Amino acid sequence: MYYPEELIEEVRLKNDIVDVISGHVRLQRKGGSYFGLCPFHSEKSPSFSVSRSKQMYYCFGCGAGGNVFTFLMEYEHFTFQEAVKALAERAGVSLPELEYSEEMKQKESRRTKLLEVNKEAAKYFYYLLRKQEGRAGLQYLRGRGLEEGTIHKFGLGFASKFSDDLTRYLKGKGYQDELLKEAGLCSIDEKYGTHDKFWNRVMFPIQDMNHRVIGFGGRVMGEGKPKYLNSPETPVFDKSRNLYGLNFARSSRAGNMILCEGYMDVIAMHQAGFGQAVASLGTAFTEGQAGLIRRYTENVLLSYDSDGAGVRAALRAIGILKESGLTGKIIHLEPYKDPDEFLKNRGTEQFQKRIEEAENSFFFELRILERDYDLSDPEGKTRFHQAIARKLCGFSEEVERENYIEAAADRYHIGFENLRRLVGSYAAKTGLAKETIRPKSGVKPKNTPEDGAKKAQRLLITWLSEEPGLYRKIKKYISPGDFTTDLYRQVAEKLFAELEGEAPNPAALVSQFTEEEQQREVAALFHTRLVLPGQEKKEREKAFHDILISVKTYSYECDCERMGNDMDALKRAIAGKKALEELKNTHISLD
Ligand code: GTP
Ligand code: MN
Repeated sequence: MYYPEELIEEVRLKNDIVDVISGHVRLQRKGGSYFGLCPFHSEKSPSFSVSRSKQMYYCFGCGAGGNVFTFLMEYEHFTFQEAVKALAERAGVSLPELEYSEEMKQKESRRTKLLEVNKEAAKYFYYLLRKQEGRAGLQYLRGRGLEEGTIHKFGLGFASKFSDDLTRYLKGKGYQDELLKEAGLCSIDEKYGTHDKFWNRVMFPIQDMNHRVIGFGGRVMGEGKPKYLNSPETPVFDKSRNLYGLNFARSSRAGNMILCEGYMDVIAMHQAGFGQAVASLGTAFTEGQAGLIRRYTENVLLSYDSDGAGVRAALRAIGILKESGLTGKIIHLEPYKDPDEFLKNRGTEQFQKRIEEAENSFFFELRILERDYDLSDPEGKTRFHQAIARKLCGFSEEVERENYIEAAADRYHIGFENLRRLVGSYAAKTGLAKETIRPKSGVKPKNTPEDGAKKAQRLLITWLSEEPGLYRKIKKYISPGDFTTDLYRQVAEKLFAELEGEAPNPAALVSQFTEEEQQREVAALFHTRLVLPGQEKKEREKAFHDILISVKTYSYECDCERMGNDMDALKRAIAGKKALEELKNTHISLD
């Protein structure tokens, strides 16, 4: 069940795409378009473009693209309806209540139900913490220095000593065993029946960016194993794409994010005024999480435990940050173990000082590397210098590399020219690091005739949408039937119909396709790179002519292949041949 098309159009027209995307991605104007770092893949230089005239976005790196609805669907993982709703709200358009079909209800309801039962469980834990059964929990949290307001803000709670009271409570509210199990709140055991997953633990509800409870972490009281028990992954809980505390940190204006290891660290940091602290969810930091952070800032400060495991985790995280084009710095907490302990002993001001003194991640890496070499031995020293040189090859940008060579040479008393030469020789052997571009759909393009023709078809669609006046000059030769895949043909049909009337409206066209994958492809059709800027008119005319010939030739060839068992194809082939010959002898001016 969908909203009426006119209403969807109204919502779209009232939400300028540049304004909406600017709220999430930093954009810079370049000519007629706005460019920024793509929020959908890792990159260091901007290939994500947003066009105000087309009301579309497109990434030349990974192929993500669409209109303002598609953007929210991809960015916030919204459904189409959710995106329409959010933007209607933003623009003050009121929407009618939707009548869902049974099928839609079922599909949507599983997720909704999981979120609902999580919310109920969180409320129950929260309630228990303030009851007699939860006294030990509240004492524990207070003992760790948490204020009332903090406990409330993070919705902390308590799972009691009984092993089935949550289950009983939720079943009493009408939730089925199956759902509780799927939500990871209980286990069903043949021998012992249904019992709670969490008991006698302080509970940390984990919220997504929209403050919805998607899972839990439970800390044992005092000593005991495991110290933290976490919800399993569920359809609403993807550990690699959420961060603890991000629902608050996203609106912090600190200009950086502080990445910690534990829930308690995040909470202590927020209480001390560092509202930009987040933590991964009991698992190692992931690329998806780096992508989340990059929506808000480029500067990440690592505040991991100072022990061996913490250092190893920090080194891993630095690699991931770098690949995502983020800058990482390391906050040193010595002599304390983690930010929570540091804050308790030294307080906010001293922590702020440690933030200012945070170490550049490259030098942190070198310092850790240094431990593996005996620098009092010339042999060890040489190998260490070689290792530095190899690492320096990781900087693909020359200016940056030169600066680091200089700084490293200085710090480790190596002659600048010597180090530079060493880097040069490694670079010659192994090459410099390349920017990593990981297309979302990892299919490598092969150059078949079909690919060539499809490219020409895309170019033609983009060109016609940008210079609609050309349509009347080519409509004699080209029709939607010349577009050889279903999707392209559908787009061409709609576009040509629009070109017959008023101006084309590609962004509206995108919403007429329901699948995200289709919307992405449609967006790509309108963003195929044309000829280089500054090209002569004559060359542009030749390029345009070549595109037409290429589209028509391929369409003709397809018809010829089908001629044997398809009478229509025969007719089309005859007409196609005629049109092609005429086209070859016609000059089409771009004026
Ligand atoms: P406190 O002792 O309460 O201060 O813990 P902490 O916040 O300092 O956490 P710690 O450094 O021990 O661990 C960091 C994070 O790793 C925790 O927040 C949990 O998410 C996770 N974690 C810790 N212990 C366990 C465990 O035993 N099992 C699992 N699955 N995760 C754990
Ligand atoms: Mn701790």
